[in-house]
Parts: sequence; C-alpha cells; structure tokens
Amino acid sequence: MKIKWLGHSCFIIEGNDRIIVDPYINGNPVCPEKVEDIEVDIIAITHAHGDHFGDAIEIAKNNGAKIVAIYEIVEYASQYGIEGEAINMGGGVKVGKGTEITMVPAFHSSGFTMANFKFGGAMPAGLIIKSGKTIYHAGDTSIFSDMKLIGELYKPDVALLPIGGRYTMDARQAALAAEWIKAEITVPMHYNTWDAIKQDPKEFKRMAEERGAKVVILNPGEEIEI
Ligand code: NI
Ligand code: MN
Repeated sequence: MKIKWLGHSCFIIEGNDRIIVDPYINGNPVCPEKVEDIEVDIIAITHAHGDHFGDAIEIAKNNGAKIVAIYEIVEYASQYGIEGEAINMGGGVKVGKGTEITMVPAFHSSGFTMANFKFGGAMPAGLIIKSGKTIYHAGDTSIFSDMKLIGELYKPDVALLPIGGRYTMDARQAALAAEWIKAEITVPMHYNTWDAIKQDPKEFKRMAEERGAKVVILNPGEEIEI
C-alpha cells in the first residue's frame, strides 16, 4: 500500500482501491497537485469543514467516484448527483474492489461553509480505512482516551494524526495519542498549512518516539510504502 500526503489532512491511499481522504486541493496553500489530475475510486470524508470536504464534488464527478461519509454529508452530495455510501459512528461499509471504511468518533465540530446551504454537517468523525493494510485517519480532533480502544479494536498499521493545535490536538497531545493507538507508523497532519497551525513536526516526532511510537514525517507530495 502507498500513502501519499497532499498537505493538511488530504491523503491518497493506494491499496485495493485508490482512495482520497479529505480532498482539500483548491485553496490548500501546500497542496502540490491539481483537482483535475486526481484519479481515485473512493472519496472518504471526515467532516464537512471546507478544509476537509474540499473538492469532493468535483473529484467525484471527474472520476465517477463514490463518497463515503456520515449520512448528512452523503445527502448533501446527492444534491449534486453524487453517489455515496452513508455510514455513522461504529458502523462501516465495504466499497470498491476491496476496501472497508468504518467510522469512529472525533471531538470537533462540523458544518458546511458553502453559500446558501441550510444544514450542518452532523458529527465530525475519524475513519478506519482497511484496503489491504489498515489506516486510522483521526480527522480533526482533540485527544480522547477511547483512542486506546480504537487501537485495540482496529490495530491500525498507520495512524494519521493532527498535530497543529488551535483547532485540534497539538504535538504534545498527539504524542500521547500515538502511544495509545500503537500503530506501527504514525504520520503527522493538519499543521503548517497556515500560520494558525504552525508546528514543528520534528518536535512531535521526538515526543512520540520517546513514548515508543515510530513517526514518519512527510512533505506535501511525498509518499510512503508499507
Ligand atoms: Ni474541521
Ligand atoms: Mn480542519
């Protein structure tokens, strides 16, 4: 499996299917790719904020890709003729050629920022993406002790954790979260997109590795193979 970071919380996961998570491309100051170059089968979304829902509609249309997200986000996308698989906390769905996506909690907020849209985005979420290997994408969240349970239940090979602070947990909290989740590899995300979430990923790596986690720092556009 290959995991490529496009900056912020956006990753392209190439396992049994090609999956983009939180496709924030347009307006993402650190994203090295263009929306029209994205080729995926599945679009997984953690919550409705613009820096996560991003270009989901355009990418879905360009690729005939399915959206997997919480019920309310799938309903929203259906207005644009986009096909989706709605899931909710603790549940999941098998999609594509061999991918299973399960929804887990995240402590944050959620809501669409699009003009004239009258509804909120329901609950924010984390996602367990099993497509050969298992990835835990934590979404935007604070630390919470049920991350231990997420680690125990799903035994993720890779954990993608926000470290930027301000809107999510910071490097110190994320280091403890990494210890609890016990993924083989932890990759930091949701930092250095803007000044408000400036963070030194090396400081995160140092703190998390003191706690026994293994951290891989990616630059936007870089990928790891596991
Ligand atoms: Ni958010
Ligand atoms: Mn965010």
